[in-house]
Amino acid sequence: MIPVPLYDPLDPDVVSSPYAAYDVLRENSPFWHVGMRCWIVMKYDLCIQVLKNSRIYVSDWRLAGIGHDTSSEEALGIQVLDGAAHTRLRSSFTRAMNSTVEMKTIQTSVRALMRSRLQEIPQGTPFDFVTTVGRPVSLEAICNVLGIEVPESDSFAAMAEALIRGMDAGLIPEREEPAKRAKQELNALIAQWSEYRFLPYSNGILQKTLNSAAEYGIPEQQILSTARQFFLAGYSTTVAAAANAIFAIATDRELSESLQQNPALIPATIEELLRLDGPVQGTSRALSADATLGDVPMRRGEIVLCLFGAANRDPEVFPDANHIDITRVGNRHLGFGWGPHACTGALFARDVLKVIVEEVLATGLPRIVGRVSRSPRATLRYPDSLFMSIERS
Ligand code: HEM
Repeated sequence: MIPVPLYDPLDPDVVSSPYAAYDVLRENSPFWHVGMRCWIVMKYDLCIQVLKNSRIYVSDWRLAGIGHDTSSEEALGIQVLDGAAHTRLRSSFTRAMNSTVEMKTIQTSVRALMRSRLQEIPQGTPFDFVTTVGRPVSLEAICNVLGIEVPESDSFAAMAEALIRGMDAGLIPEREEPAKRAKQELNALIAQWSEYRFLPYSNGILQKTLNSAAEYGIPEQQILSTARQFFLAGYSTTVAAAANAIFAIATDRELSESLQQNPALIPATIEELLRLDGPVQGTSRALSADATLGDVPMRRGEIVLCLFGAANRDPEVFPDANHIDITRVGNRHLGFGWGPHACTGALFARDVLKVIVEEVLATGLPRIVGRVSRSPRATLRYPDSLFMSIERS
């Protein structure tokens, strides 16, 4: 019997930084977490085994005899389907993304918005990067991709935050009700989306996927659910990744100066920061059949939580894993996941992050002002606010 190690993702020390806890627990994983009622996997190679094998470790929990009920098949989206239905949806969205999304145009609009936001800030005045820059810029970018009108940033941010917090409702039950209300608000917004294909100005992946749904035999509701997942997954992760990256750069003078002098280093730095402190700390799958992971036997219907944050610092894969190395070769981190459900927006996200970091550093050197606050969240890791000032060049 494996002893149950103490691991509380909502403990203030773990919320502040989970990486010391990961280092202590990684070798003992997979272990069963009694409180979270799941297997926790922290080793890189075992996470890959889980993520690659979507026949045994399923996202569609119905295949494990648990989860969403069968009558709602038509309303399920890309993140909770497997097999042929998942492949069909995924291909439809990636095809639409490749043929519709003009990355240059999106980069230009993100850059223009970044510039105007940063120019509005009086020199030397501290500002919150998350509300002033991260959220509005990420929202505009994802709306451009989908081809939908940009909702008002602050109220959308509040709704998205309630939904993200709701992901931890199993650990913090009082988050369930606000998340339910936010879901209703979001559903009301999405109800308007099915009309988008008729609007001449809407030229994004939503219109494209809706128009080709019948041709590929995809129920319209699945397209809308997937678009909702694109919208939320794309928005919240980009805000979080941008805040984490800017925090790391602003707290490392040597790094910020070298990136400012040589912006060509920015893409490799972003990869390394996604490895070291990525926003998506983990993902779960359910077992559709009994299996053995490592040497641990697991049963059908049990849940496996792969902690990307821990796997990304596995010393067997990443030498000097706890330190930043922007010259790291073969940085195959799990910041965007792995296997059939890996992030469909990774290329787009990388481009948006690159523009955000470039524009901050083109304005000057960022410096953090005051303490960084973090709400307890088990799945998505980022500061709620990031007060900083920019020393103009
Ligand atoms: C830096 C920003 C981002 C990060 C760190 C990130 C991370 C991830 C990760 C780790 C997964 C895999 C989850 C799993 O295996 O359960 C994922 C899936 C996904 N991401 Fe991202 N993501 C980012 C941005 C985006 C953007 C901008 C979009 C949309 C344009 C997007 C759309 C999706 C979708 C639709 C999935 C589900 C794919 C599937 O289930 O087949 N993501 N993302």
